[in-house]
Amino acid sequence: MSHKIAPSILAANFLELGKEIDMVNASQADYLHVDVMDGAFVPNISFGQNIVKFIASRCEKIVDVHLMINDPDKYVQSFFDAGANIISIHAEATNHLHRSIYGIKELGVKAGVALNPHTPISIIENVLEDLDMVVLMSVNPGFGGQKFIYNTLSKIQKLSELRTIRNLDFEIEIDGGVGLQNAEKILQAGANVLVAGSSVFKSDDPIQSITKLKELGIEQLSEF
Ligand code: DX5
Ligand code: ZN
Repeated sequence: MSHKIAPSILAANFLELGKEIDMVNASQADYLHVDVMDGAFVPNISFGQNIVKFIASRCEKIVDVHLMINDPDKYVQSFFDAGANIISIHAEATNHLHRSIYGIKELGVKAGVALNPHTPISIIENVLEDLDMVVLMSVNPGFGGQKFIYNTLSKIQKLSELRTIRNLDFEIEIDGGVGLQNAEKILQAGANVLVAGSSVFKSDDPIQSITKLKELGIEQLSEF
């Protein structure tokens, strides 16, 4: 199965939000990645449910909400109401991860768990069966436009091996500093969803940037 591309709206021009979402709608993107930051779990505030509702109402792609907030259980219902199709919470932001995951699944949407760069995969080993997605942060969350942390590649490999050994099908999404310069390596390591903020929205031709990310690896495959 081919990999998926999730442009991150955080890097968009918010004065032109509707147009930016239309660009994503017209592109080969699979998801629209939506970063919610609370200024407590991460050192930055982005936007809340109301903006997510506007974004989701215009978006024709799957709305992939990444909650970088403390106490996520309190808010999952309202992000579901706002139009989220996938909700990911941070393992570091909840005391009862299993309960938090089921709080999302019971709403009828896909549940993801995100891990900060320093958090080991072992923390989610006992809930992997319950997950639709694992988000491996390849930057310290809070800001767009940061440099990819290369240690993430070995984490991707480890998680991808676990997925194969256990015969599971959760998605592995990589978030932070992803662009054409490193996407091939990330995919080879076993990831299948690429979040791309700056490398899409800050490029001269965002639609073309999405196409290039989406078509990576296709030539090699068609040689066989
Ligand atoms: C970082 C966010 C990312 C961010 C990625 O805290 O979770 O989704 O938007 O942006 P780039 O691709 O610019 O690193
Ligand atoms: Zn994100």
